[in-house]
Amino acid sequence: MKDVYQIAVVHGDGIGPEVCAAAVEVVKAALGPDCPLRFPEYPAGAAHFLKTGQSFPQPTFEACRAADAILHGAGGLPGVVYPDGTEAGLDFTLRLRFELDLYANIRPIKLFEGVTSPLAGVKAGDIDYVILRENSEGLYAARGAGALLRGQVAVDTLVQTRAGIERIVRKAFELARQSNGAPRDGVRRVTCCDKANVLRSYAFFRSVFDEVAKDYPDIETEHALVDAMAMHLVLKPGHFNVIVSENMFGDILSDLAAATVGGMGMAPSAEVGDMNGFFQAAHGSAPDIAGKGIANPYGTILSAAAMLDWLGRGHDDERLLRAAEQIRRVTEACLANGLLSADLKGKSSTAEITGNVCDRLAA
Ligand code: IPM
Ligand code: MN
Repeated sequence: MKDVYQIAVVHGDGIGPEVCAAAVEVVKAALGPDCPLRFPEYPAGAAHFLKTGQSFPQPTFEACRAADAILHGAGGLPGVVYPDGTEAGLDFTLRLRFELDLYANIRPIKLFEGVTSPLAGVKAGDIDYVILRENSEGLYAARGAGALLRGQVAVDTLVQTRAGIERIVRKAFELARQSNGAPRDGVRRVTCCDKANVLRSYAFFRSVFDEVAKDYPDIETEHALVDAMAMHLVLKPGHFNVIVSENMFGDILSDLAAATVGGMGMAPSAEVGDMNGFFQAAHGSAPDIAGKGIANPYGTILSAAAMLDWLGRGHDDERLLRAAEQIRRVTEACLANGLLSADLKGKSSTAEITGNVCDRLAA
């Protein structure tokens, strides 16, 4: 337990500042007047790039590395790109992942009471699984290092290492052990999602998965090809408990999965390594609704709760674990009471939702 925890806060672009400020307010409300967290703010992102020519200044990186945790709104703006066409505003997220070795991207997918799934006949509690996205290698490892030959041929390389696969697969089994199993049958189950039938790197991923699985005989295992997986997540979401996959596949499935539980606004994430933790919702910066006060803050609020969990466990700090639990409980109550933003077909503003969550936490 520490007296003070430094949370490096980066607001980012678009709706980033709105949802990030909401999450900070909620964390403060949950911890009360003796809140041991400090929230120093640092710049990064596409807007900062337009202003200064730098999307991720070195002092921001140093502060993030030194902080006890990192909290982010969202980054990137369409059209703010490097000469190679890739987005400058994504550096913050991507460089943190690689340079702080945040190999595990934990993305809970849960359908809450009060939120309507676009899937017919699916109700709260029917969807409750985790997508565990490998976050440090895979196809994303080529970021900034691909090649374009004479304007004719472009190449990015998919990298999968034994060490990288092993550690993410172990994490998947550990998450399954801590969970209540799949909603449909209560079975603790890890699904290895790959494309082992086509590419050698994915066949390797699967073979390492099978080796590691032997150490967890109490957990059921299965394989799913990623294309079939996209269908399963729509047709039988209740079957899943923990899904582990390569970086890019995890990215794509995350959005599909989020859609089944109310959309990107309902998708929190925790990106953790052995030393550092980085917390932001899985959504982007939604510039089309930025500044209107209507952004859905739940994803970032739930990501902040995950941050408190991670800090609380890492530092054996009951206060933080309790606050995380309260934020989750209150969030669920607010959703169940119909406190819904426009993306959830409700009328509540970001401020109304945040204010309500804070009031309930203070009560
Ligand atoms: C995500 C986002 C990021 C990704 C972007 C912001 C770099 O889509 O976290 O899923 O592509 O991984
Ligand atoms: Mn994504």
